[in-house]
Amino acid sequence: MSRRAQPSASISGPPVSRWFGFFPEFKADSLGYLLRCRQYGDVAKLPMGTLAALLLRERDPAMYLLNNPADIRHVLVVNQDNFTKAPVPPVESRVFGQGVLHTEGTVHHRQRRVFLPFFHGDHVSSYAGLIADTTDGVTASWSEGMTIDIGQAMTTITLSVIWRLLFGQDIGTEARTVTRAITTGQQLIKRQYDSLFARLIPLWIPTKLHREFFHGHRRLESILRRLIRDRRSAPTQSPDVLSLLLAATDATGQPLSEEEIRDQLVTFLLAGHETTANALTWGWFLLSQSKTVRAHLAQELETVLNGRLPTAADVPRLRYTKMIWEETLRLYPPAWLLHTRVSRSDDTLPSGAHLPAGARIFISPWSMHRHPQWFPDANRFDPERFAPESQAQRPAFSYLPFGGGGRRCLGESFAELEGILVMATVASRVRLRLVDGQTILPDPLMTLRPHMPMRMTVSRVHRQEPYSSLV
Ligand code: HEM
Repeated sequence: MSRRAQPSASISGPPVSRWFGFFPEFKADSLGYLLRCRQYGDVAKLPMGTLAALLLRERDPAMYLLNNPADIRHVLVVNQDNFTKAPVPPVESRVFGQGVLHTEGTVHHRQRRVFLPFFHGDHVSSYAGLIADTTDGVTASWSEGMTIDIGQAMTTITLSVIWRLLFGQDIGTEARTVTRAITTGQQLIKRQYDSLFARLIPLWIPTKLHREFFHGHRRLESILRRLIRDRRSAPTQSPDVLSLLLAATDATGQPLSEEEIRDQLVTFLLAGHETTANALTWGWFLLSQSKTVRAHLAQELETVLNGRLPTAADVPRLRYTKMIWEETLRLYPPAWLLHTRVSRSDDTLPSGAHLPAGARIFISPWSMHRHPQWFPDANRFDPERFAPESQAQRPAFSYLPFGGGGRRCLGESFAELEGILVMATVASRVRLRLVDGQTILPDPLMTLRPHMPMRMTVSRVHRQEPYSSLV
């Protein structure tokens, strides 16, 4: 039920720099800033400052941060047609092109329809064997007492899985090139998000970061285009995304161009492996901090798997593993801030806040997931929050790691399958202990990653040992 409308001019928010608006504080500590802004209520207004007003030629440009699940549901689901994604910085649009993550309206609907059957039920489950085998191969290469960079290990697994999903083949030696190109691209995109000025520096100006970006971008481009051309000249029956795209047609019934196929492949490559790798990395971090959770997990794995690799049929029984995965996504949501939405016309949110046409909207899974109203003692790692009876007490959109509505993550069920199977496979083979002396902080780039490589020590699980010594 609507409360009394609150005009946008009276929506409160933190004090900001007159010229630069909220940008300097947000740039210095984005995650802390989002949490601090909650004190201004369901909707906080973050003015963008006089310089942005001049650049954008708007009178009072501002971001509106939503902290109320009903308001978020309104924007993402109930009145979603009134909200579009904001234009992206030049480098982001250069990387993603017209992939499904960035298109709008009928083009977006048509693209989504091509992918939906691929990311549904049985087809997703058919990747279980690949995921478990890939993970088993990586853990088998670790020896007792070895120190590993767990983020890199998780990226190795998820990158080789997504490559098989996209191209039906092993990534082989391309892995390093792809990972480097992605990291540099992310740094540049984040820089352009943090500062309106960075967006204005043309990409052809040869700054160090621009040069590194183009180097990686060109190499990734040539790999993708080669794969598309090879497949066109020698088609296969491989049930992968590339085959799906080569068989798809556009609105006029014509096959997709090389450019369109490339854009979708880059989109899935980027959206579909780094997110999951970061979530898993945070999962190992959290597990390393809680003996109780480790013991509970070890018990479930012993009961369900009894030493063998997990299959798709085991997933429904790996309930506690799933709860750990969900609690990890709560505390460290890879998509810590959804893509900014812009209202097409005036709108009044269920909380009563009135948004003018053109209002820019921030929705942050990071800040919602740490809201004490829905998650008491919000910083504590507690998978029991995702027991069915606890979940039922929270409103929809208090938890939204995969967004919602017509733009909800296409790969959600794939990510969940992968998350659960990788966790189960690794944890039934090894214990991972955080190397002492590391202070691990989240770094909000395009996805939420640890601010430095996270080092962990491996010890192998010997199944005859009692739980007390296993954990
Ligand atoms: C833990 C892993 C993942 C997380 C947390 C995640 C999160 C998200 C979120 C929040 C969105 C919506 C963004 C917005 O509305 O602004 C999204 C969109 C998307 N995701 Fe994921 N994702 C994950 C894994 C994957 C995987 C594995 C794939 C593909 C294999 C994938 C493909 C996509 C695509 C294509 C979209 C765009 C959907 C659209 O706009 O219609 N994601 N993801």
